Order: sequence, then C-alpha cells, then structure tokens
Amino acid sequence: MAKHHATNKAGQRPAGALGLLAALVTLAVIALTAPASALSPDDAHCLSCHQSAGMEKQLGNGESLSLHIQGDRFAGSVHGMFGCAACHSDIDPAKHPGDAKPIASKRSFSIGRAQVCATCHTDQATQWSHSVHAALVRDGNPMAPVCTSCHSPHAVMKGAAQAMETVPCKTCHSDIFGAYATSVHGTLRAAGITQAPLCFNCHGAHDIKVPTAGAGLKDTCFGCHTDAVAKHQIWLPNAQLHFTVITCPACHSPTAHRKVDLMLRNSATKEDAVRPIGVPEFQGPPDGAAGDKGLDPATLFTLMQTLNRTGVKNKTSIKGMLDVSSGVEAHKIAAASEAIKNCSTCHKAGAAAFQSVTISVAGAGGVPVHYGITKDVLHSAFSIPSIGGFYAMGATRITLLDVLLALGLLVGFGIPALHLTIRWLASRPTDKPGSAKPDSADQDKKEG
Ligand code: HEC
Ligand code: HEC
Ligand code: HEC
Ligand code: HEC
Ligand code: HEC
Ligand code: HEC
Ligand code: HEC
Ligand code: HEC
Ligand code: HEC
Repeated sequence: MAKHHATNKAGQRPAGALGLLAALVTLAVIALTAPASALSPDDAHCLSCHQSAGMEKQLGNGESLSLHIQGDRFAGSVHGMFGCAACHSDIDPAKHPGDAKPIASKRSFSIGRAQVCATCHTDQATQWSHSVHAALVRDGNPMAPVCTSCHSPHAVMKGAAQAMETVPCKTCHSDIFGAYATSVHGTLRAAGITQAPLCFNCHGAHDIKVPTAGAGLKDTCFGCHTDAVAKHQIWLPNAQLHFTVITCPACHSPTAHRKVDLMLRNSATKEDAVRPIGVPEFQGPPDGAAGDKGLDPATLFTLMQTLNRTGVKNKTSIKGMLDVSSGVEAHKIAAASEAIKNCSTCHKAGAAAFQSVTISVAGAGGVPVHYGITKDVLHSAFSIPSIGGFYAMGATRITLLDVLLALGLLVGFGIPALHLTIRWLASRPTDKPGSAKPDSADQDKKEG
C-alpha cells in the first residue's frame, strides 16, 4: 500500500524535489515487490473497462474522446509502475464512472490534465511555462503543445523523445523536420551519431524560445563548434561583425533565398515570454499579400515615431539581420565546403541578398510576423535612425549617411527628412543614434 500513500502525496502537489523523491521511493518499493511490467489489481480494474477498444465519450463541442487505453504499452512505459492513480487521484473507483462530469473539448481536457505532470516534474514544467509554446497556449493557439502533446501520457517510453524516429517536434513541424533530415546534422544523426544535434539540442525541449529573438542561436552553435570564430577569422575579415549581422544559415544553407529582415526590438524582447511589439501599429496585409511593394521608408518612419511617441516607456528600435527567407531553409545546413565564401555575393551593387526586405513584428507569443517592405528602405535617409547603419559596403550604402560620416559633422539642415531625423534622435531619451546598430542586441543580452 506504499503506492497509495505516495500517490496521495503526489496528488497534494508537494514541492518538486519532494515529489520526485516520493516518486522514486515508490518506484524502488514497487520495483522490489513486483515484476516490472505487471499491473496492480487496481490498474487491472481500471483497464477492465478502459482496455476495450472503441470506448468513447461525447464532449460538449461534439468531439468524441477515445477512452481506450493500451494496458500493455502502459505497463512497459516509464510510468507503468506508478499505476493509474498516480495521475488520476481525482477518480474515486467507488463512484466512477457514475460521477463523471461533462468535458467541454479535447483541448480543454488536455490543458487541464497536463497539470498533473508538474507534481513530479517541476523543472520541466517551469521551463515549459517560460517557452514560446506556453506563451502561445496562453494566447489561445489551439496547436501549441502542452506536456502530453509531446509525451503520450500512457506510453512514455524511455528515450523516445530523443530518437530521430520518434522526436515529438516532427508531428507539428514536419516541413522543418524534412529539411533537417537532409542536412549535415540530420544525416549524421540518422547514422547514429548522437553528437550531431537533433531539434532539442539547438532549441531546447522545454525552454524553447523564438530563435530569431535576442542574440539568436549562434551561441548554441558555438557550444559544439568551439573553434568556429577562429576558423572563419582566417578568411573572413571581422568575422564577429559578420556573425552579428548574418545568421549562420544565411551562409550555410547554400540553396536558400536570402533577405534582410528588420526586426522590431525593445526591452520586452529580453523577457521570457515576449509581449507583442509593433502590434497593432504594423498590422496590415501579411508578407506577400501586399504585393511586391510593401511598406515604404516614409511609412516606416511614421510608424516608428508612433511606436516611440512621447510617454512610451519601452523604446522600439530595429535590428537588421541578413537571413534566409524561411524557417525550412534555415535547417538545410550543408557541408562547409558548400557554404557561401564569395565576398561579392553580398559586397557588390545590386547583390541579390539585399533585394528582398521584410520587417518583423513580434506577434502572439512573440512569434515573428513578417511584412514586406520596399528595399529602398536600406538606402533611404528616412531610415537612418531606425536601421542604424545596417548596410553592406557596395550593396546598400546609405549614401547620405556615408557622406555625413565622412565629413564628420552634420550639415544640410535644409533637407526636411534629415531635419526630422535629427529631431527624432534628439527626442529619444535613452537610445543613442548608434544603439540601433545591429550588435546592440548582443550587448543588451550581456548587460541583462
Ligand atoms: C466500470 C467501467 C469503468 C471502470 C472500472 C473505470 N472506468 Fe473510467 N470511465 C468509464 C466510462 C463509462 C467513462 C465515460 C464516462 C462518461 O461518459 O461521462 C470513463 C471515463 C474516464 C475518464 C475520462 C474523464 C471523465 O471523467 O470522463 C478517465 C480519465 C477515466 N475514466 C479513468 C479511469 C481510471 C483511472 C479508472 C481506475 C481507477 C477507471 N477509469 C475505471 C468506465 C470505467
Ligand atoms: C503519467 C500520468 C498518467 C498515468 C500514470 C495515467 N494517466 Fe490516464 N491520463 C493522463 C493524462 C495527462 C490524460 C489526458 C490526456 C489528454 O490530453 O487527452 C489522461 C487521460 C486518460 C483517459 C481519457 C482518454 C485519453 O486518453 O485522453 C483515460 C480513460 C485514462 N487516462 C485512463 C488511465 C488509466 C486506465 C491508467 C492506468 C492504466 C492511466 N490513465 C494512467 C495521465 C496519466
Ligand atoms: C508520480 C510522479 C510522476 C508523475 C505524476 C509523472 N511522472 Fe514522468 N516520470 C516520473 C519518474 C520517477 C520518471 C523516471 C523514470 C525512470 O527513469 O525510469 C519519469 C520519467 C518521465 C519521462 C522521461 C522518459 C525518458 O525518456 O526517460 C518523461 C518524458 C515523463 N516522465 C513525462 C511525464 C509526463 C508528460 C507526465 C504527465 C502526463 C508525467 N511524466 C507525470 C514520475 C512521474
Ligand atoms: C515541444 C515538445 C515537448 C513538450 C511540450 C514537453 N516536452 Fe518533455 N521532452 C521533450 C523532448 C524532446 C525531450 C528529450 C530532451 C532531451 O533529451 O534533452 C523531453 C524530455 C523530458 C523529460 C526527461 C528528462 C529531461 O528533461 O530530459 C521529462 C521528465 C519531460 N520531458 C517532462 C515534460 C513535462 C512534465 C512537460 C510539460 C510541462 C513536457 N515534458 C513538455 C519534448 C517536450
Ligand atoms: C503539437 C504541435 C507542436 C509540437 C509537437 C511542437 N511544436 Fe513548436 N510550435 C507549434 C506551434 C503551433 C507554434 C507557433 C508557430 C507556428 O504556428 O508555426 C510553434 C512554434 C515553435 C517555435 C517558434 C517559431 C518561430 O517562428 O519563432 C519553435 C522554435 C518551435 N516551435 C520549436 C519546436 C521544437 C524544437 C519542438 C520539439 C521539441 C516543437 N516545436 C514541437 C506547435 C508544435
Ligand atoms: C543546428 C541547430 C538546429 C537544429 C538541429 C534545429 N534547428 Fe530549428 N532553427 C535553428 C535556427 C538557427 C533557427 C533560426 C533561423 C533564422 O534565423 O531564421 C531555427 C528556426 C526554427 C523554427 C522557426 C522557423 C521560422 O519559421 O522562423 C522552428 C519552428 C524550428 N526551428 C524547429 C525545429 C525543429 C522541429 C527541428 C528538428 C526537426 C529543428 N528546428 C532543428 C537551428 C536548429
Ligand atoms: C559569410 C558567410 C558565413 C557565415 C556568416 C558563417 N559561416 Fe561558417 N563557414 C563559411 C564558409 C565559406 C566555410 C568554409 C570555410 C573553408 O573553406 O574552410 C565555413 C565553415 C564553417 C564550419 C566548418 C569549419 C570548421 O572547420 O570549423 C563550421 C562548423 C561553421 N562554418 C559554422 C558556422 C557557424 C556556427 C556560424 C554562425 C555563427 C557560421 N558558420 C557563419 C561561411 C560562413
Ligand atoms: C550538439 C552539437 C552541435 C550543435 C549545437 C551544432 N552542431 Fe554543427 N555539427 C556538429 C557535428 C558533430 C558535426 C559533424 C562533425 C563536424 O564536422 O564537426 C557538425 C557539422 C556542421 C557543419 C558541417 C561542417 C563541415 O566540416 O562540413 C556545419 C556547417 C555546422 N555543423 C553548422 C552548425 C550551425 C550553423 C549550428 C547552429 C545553428 C550548429 N552547427 C550546431 C555538432 C553540432
Ligand atoms: C553573406 C553576405 C556577406 C558575405 C559573403 C561577406 N560579407 Fe562582409 N559584410 C556583410 C554585411 C551584411 C556586413 C555588415 C555591414 C554593416 O553592418 O555595416 C559586412 C561587413 C564587412 C566589412 C566591414 C567590417 C567593418 O569592420 O566595418 C568588411 C571589411 C567585409 N564585410 C569584408 C568582407 C570580405 C572580404 C568578404 C569575403 C571574404 C565578405 N565580407 C563576405 C555581408 C557579407
């Protein structure tokens, strides 16, 4: 009866370490007293009904919930030894199913029931609560995963979440998985080389963040590729600067379309659960729907002024990044011999990478929403304060800015755009003109 004792403890939601300890003690006791895959009489009782195939419950929204549980799979799972009651302590066998209550929908049932996992797995639950997925669940996204979307509650098999065949991410991000599978990492992983990363080695499993926020994932790459900066430095001048303004996939996914993405940032970007930025100011037709024109520089300027109007605490700036055009392309990392090495891919007038520009606001859960913007924005005087000198020599030079820098003083107050620009710069209390420079994100991160 040690089992019921520990179960009740878990049901009372003890502090995490205590819960896991209780669970482990239970595990040890049961492992000593019963063969691993045998079901207790209590569990056999539950299964006397729930083992029957086709058993269903009609839910409030018209869905039907399958009540069929595979007893043998459960017995072989990591939780088999704990018994049904470890997670269903709310069910009183004497009254069930007579006292069963209506259930509104599968989704509400899942979100509610998954809370029980936290009684033993406090660390994972805390990490998950700070993830982009949890932020999306809170925002009402019906597809965002809770514990049981990734770990089937009655069949958690040891090691399944880490295996390429059964990694949970592929059920929802199947297109990305497809791209990953053909990448240098995916091919190695499929060949059994576990040093090569699978989804969670780069993104984490529970504390998944928006990968383009903050400094991005390049520090994760450096975690394994420790000599990467030194190796690039050999042929690439100022490799650190290049790493700050170009994502790794932009050079290492050789077949990808490249674009400049201008990301709106403010201090909220540094928070765990990123709040929307640029919404609703930038709301309009999403990328593509606006035709090939998109926002023009003057509109961008006005929108930035609206965002940073007097009295607004979190000033918004723009971080420019040379990136691939889609999440799928980001995962087609090829062998290093195929990577972009030719300087003129970027450093020449009219370089393809600078012909396509998007602006990203942080939408629900902080997930970026991209809007098209005309490429003139990279050249325009309107953009100086916001783009902060993001330009590749020869390709997108903001000529006016270069002239000013060369002269080392500000002349030409007759130019209205510049005049506005200077007024706008002066009205920003904390942000210096240079602070919108692409590398400010990394500095933010170090300071925070
Ligand atoms: C006598 C057959 C029977 C037994 C034994 C039984 N159940 Fe059920 N169970 C049902 C039926 C029937 C329903 C559907 C009730 C309804 O439609 O409202 C159900 C529903 C459920 C649900 C869905 C949630 C809900 O409240 O409707 C869970 C979870 C559940 N049972 C778990 C268990 C567990 C755990 C045990 C063992 C402690 C168990 N059941 C024993 C027949 C049984
Ligand atoms: C590790 C925790 C855990 C254990 C152990 C467990 N369950 Fe569940 N059970 C859950 C969760 C969580 C859900 C809600 C799943 C979802 O999102 O639909 C659930 C749902 C159910 C349902 C509703 C149908 C469904 O799949 O959603 C039934 C019936 C059920 N459990 C019966 C059982 C029985 C019988 C056992 C023992 C043989 C058992 N459970 C053991 C966590 C557990
Ligand atoms: C009563 C405590 C308890 C509850 C409740 C519980 N677990 Fe566990 N779980 C454990 C223990 C203990 C282990 C370690 C088992 C082992 O190492 O053999 C474990 C292991 C796991 C693993 C690791 C599997 C692997 O690959 O080794 C996952 C994933 C997991 N649980 C998910 C869940 C989910 C999801 C829920 C909620 C539906 C849940 N657990 C509820 C105690 C619990
Ligand atoms: C988006 C999918 C996903 C969600 C949601 C998720 N997990 Fe996991 N979980 C994984 C993956 C992938 C692994 C394997 C990670 C690894 O080995 O580093 C894992 C591993 C685990 C483990 C084994 C120990 C560890 O940390 O590696 C436990 C326990 C666990 N998860 C519990 C939970 C609980 C509890 C929740 C809900 C709060 C949850 N998971 C939500 C994907 C997920
Ligand atoms: C049950 C479905 C589901 C599963 C399983 C799942 N995700 Fe997600 N994930 C989503 C949804 C929905 C979004 C919201 C963005 C979208 O609609 O594409 C999202 C967003 C993300 C984002 C942020 C996207 C962005 O544009 O910034 C990342 C990163 C991510 N998931 C990684 C993972 C990883 C890694 C795993 C496995 C450990 C995983 N997901 C498992 C549904 C899922
Ligand atoms: C080698 C590290 C690495 C691995 C392995 C990896 N990713 Fe990513 N992932 C990234 C990077 C880097 C980005 C950001 C790309 C960018 O800058 O646009 C990203 C972006 C994403 C996004 C956001 C896509 C978007 O539309 O912006 C999702 C979702 C995602 N990854 C899911 C996954 C899944 C699922 C897997 C496993 C099949 C996976 N990732 C494997 C590094 C990785
Ligand atoms: C400007 C384009 C460019 C960028 C940006 C870039 N790389 Fe590279 N990388 C290359 C090229 C080209 C090679 C092959 C160099 C050679 O010929 O030896 C290479 C080689 C590599 C190699 C294998 C070389 C080795 O021996 O270590 C790794 C690993 C690598 N890069 C990782 C990264 C990571 C991580 C990032 C992001 C922080 C990154 N690269 C950013 C172009 C780039
Ligand atoms: C968990 C460790 C790990 C992480 C994280 C990781 N890699 Fe790798 N990567 C490897 C291993 C192992 C190989 C194959 C052996 C090698 O060439 O170093 C590899 C190979 C590569 C290669 C091919 C090198 C060649 O010589 O052809 C490139 C390019 C690369 N990785 C880029 C990246 C980028 C970009 C990231 C981050 C988005 C990243 N890696 C994250 C482990 C990792
Ligand atoms: C994938 C595109 C890309 C490739 C390939 C590339 N660069 Fe760059 N480079 C950039 C961008 C973007 C900047 C940043 C400009 C800015 O923000 O001021 C930059 C900046 C520079 C700078 C200015 C550094 C400074 O200290 O201000 C130099 C010099 C430079 N690149 C030289 C090279 C050389 C030489 C090569 C080839 C070996 C090369 N780049 C390859 C995109 C690229």
